[in-house]
Amino acid sequence: MRRLAVFASGNGANFEAIVEGCRSGVIGNAEVVLCVCDKPEAYVVERAERLGVGKLVFTPKDYASKSDYEKEIADVMDSLGIDLVCLAGYMRIVGEELLGRYGGRIINIHPSLLPAFPGVGAIRAAFEYGVKVYGVTIHEVDSSLDGGKILSQVAIPYEGADFEELKTEIHKAEHKLYTETINKILA
Ligand code: GAR
Repeated sequence: MRRLAVFASGNGANFEAIVEGCRSGVIGNAEVVLCVCDKPEAYVVERAERLGVGKLVFTPKDYASKSDYEKEIADVMDSLGIDLVCLAGYMRIVGEELLGRYGGRIINIHPSLLPAFPGVGAIRAAFEYGVKVYGVTIHEVDSSLDGGKILSQVAIPYEGADFEELKTEIHKAEHKLYTETINKILA
């Protein structure tokens, strides 16, 4: 049984999709054993409680440096025997401490066809730009913002004017692509 950690900063819908993906068998032979969250008030914390997933919730300001809190995270992950780290709406650049200990085993999801529209607010930026094909990317994590080797992508054609409808379509595609990609990586 492979052991996953999922990092999130907000809503946590991808976190829940990964947990459910493991439980339903879409992701074979794996379980999410840790939710890491840098915002105590984030909804993902409630999801982790409801789903019975262990959590590590911290406030970056309480630490002297990024290395300090990343060391604590990496120590907890070492003690749990984490095989793969999935960033799912974790809105921080991963630093040297985590990359040093988990580099090559950290992946991220981003709601655009990277390298287009990196960073926060990607769906809104693409919508305002007027693109006709949106998308989702899963990539390895390095020290850059939404950079790193691309592992999988899906294109989502959308020419409508309803931003909420577009977001719903993209989020649905995210949950499918992320669970399928994790399954392939572990296989
Ligand atoms: C997702 O759309 C994810 O792709 C995005 O944050 C959202 C989190 O939603 N990540 C990024 O923009 C990374 N740069 P969720 O908390 O409901 O899973």
